[in-house]
Amino acid sequence: MDLELNPFKPGSGLRPPALEGRDKQLAAFDLLVARSKRRNYDRGMILSGLRGVGKTTLLNTLAGHADRHEWLTIGIEARPNVSGTAAVRAKFSQELTVGLRRYSRKHKLQQVVDPLIDLARGFSLKVGLGPATVKVGAAQPAAASGDIDLDIEELVEAIAGALKPRGGAFGLFIDEMQDLDTDLLSALLAVQHRASQREWPFFLIGAGLPNLPATLAENRSYAERQFLYNTIGPLDREAAADALRIPVRRHGGDFTEEALALLVTASGGYPYFLQEYGKAIWTLAPDTPFQLEDAELAVEVGRSHLDEGFFPSRWDRSTERERRYLVAIAATGEDTPRSGKVAELMGSTSSGVSDVRDSAIRKGLIWAPEHGRIAFTVPGMADFIRRQPTA
Ligand SMILES: Nc1ncnc2c1ncn2[C@@H]1O[C@H](COP(=O)(O)OP(=O)(O)OP(=O)(O)O)[C@@H](O)[C@H]1O
Ligand SMILES: [Mg+2]
Repeated sequence: MDLELNPFKPGSGLRPPALEGRDKQLAAFDLLVARSKRRNYDRGMILSGLRGVGKTTLLNTLAGHADRHEWLTIGIEARPNVSGTAAVRAKFSQELTVGLRRYSRKHKLQQVVDPLIDLARGFSLKVGLGPATVKVGAAQPAAASGDIDLDIEELVEAIAGALKPRGGAFGLFIDEMQDLDTDLLSALLAVQHRASQREWPFFLIGAGLPNLPATLAENRSYAERQFLYNTIGPLDREAAADALRIPVRRHGGDFTEEALALLVTASGGYPYFLQEYGKAIWTLAPDTPFQLEDAELAVEVGRSHLDEGFFPSRWDRSTERERRYLVAIAATGEDTPRSGKVAELMGSTSSGVSDVRDSAIRKGLIWAPEHGRIAFTVPGMADFIRRQPTA
């Protein structure tokens, strides 16, 4: 097939040629936006799931929708550890200023919104960039007390207050939310809480790994009631088939039933894998409709691509000891082995390996689906590890 026209896009957050299987979340968000227009405010939304299931893509799609409905949308991606914290705060402040300016121009609201830009700048002096960068004069600017809780609240109140009369809202879209620093996270949860009590149109929309809901609940006890929680999982067979078939048909091509069924099964419905196999079959099939043999070859080629990129990017990020831990998980042959069993395979006890378990969780390599159990965050990771020469 014509390589230039290949519609499939394996990658991070790349908009797929057909976004399938997310009708429930799209409808829920649609409703949230429609209700906010009538000043009827719902809870924020959390999307959580394994790596490569399409959280970023969905989060970006929701932000795009909100943007088209007069929301001020700000997007940030959280990062782990201390250097990440500083970078994320700086980015948050910058996006806020840029976002407000764009909003003010787009909606011709300079008078109402421009004072907020100054407020956001004051905020960024203290919370975002640190006090060292700019000398603040004798008069303390608003939202720049240096107390992150107060400053964020003041900022959100002002922005939400300006948007409310026109039926607009302020949406903060946070990707990899489990990595947000504790202080910023707790300030944001507190202000979301306040916002819903006082009917300010402010919404946190977050995406992250399966441990995200627990991370939020640990931070603020009321977080459990604050959001509409959505688990983002693999696509069912029909949606997976559509994710492959629709883009191909759009270009006048097609699959035979057997070819399509084989790819759907091999992908397990995982969006990233669907894109990889779709890309492979488009590249290698001499003709359409794609045949069973094309599909068999595409799975082979697609898997080798995953083995070269998707899996190693996780594997290479881990330390020697983390790898030994991951190898032990894979060696159990179970999807969700008991941590005790994994430790045993390493010749240790649960408490003896708890540090490496925790660091692997923080890196998003594994997660705890329930107390005392452990699992990979990437589908197919165990097989990949078992194929490694070192394993
Ligand atoms: N609903 C969908 N239908 C088809 N393809 C999708 C869908 N959602 C996402 N994809 C594709 O899957 C791949 C992974 O998507 P995305 O980066 O959004 O996943 P993610 O869950 O954010 O992963 P990570 O946890 O690694 O950040 C991308 O190539 C994207 O185009
Ligand atoms: Mg992502």
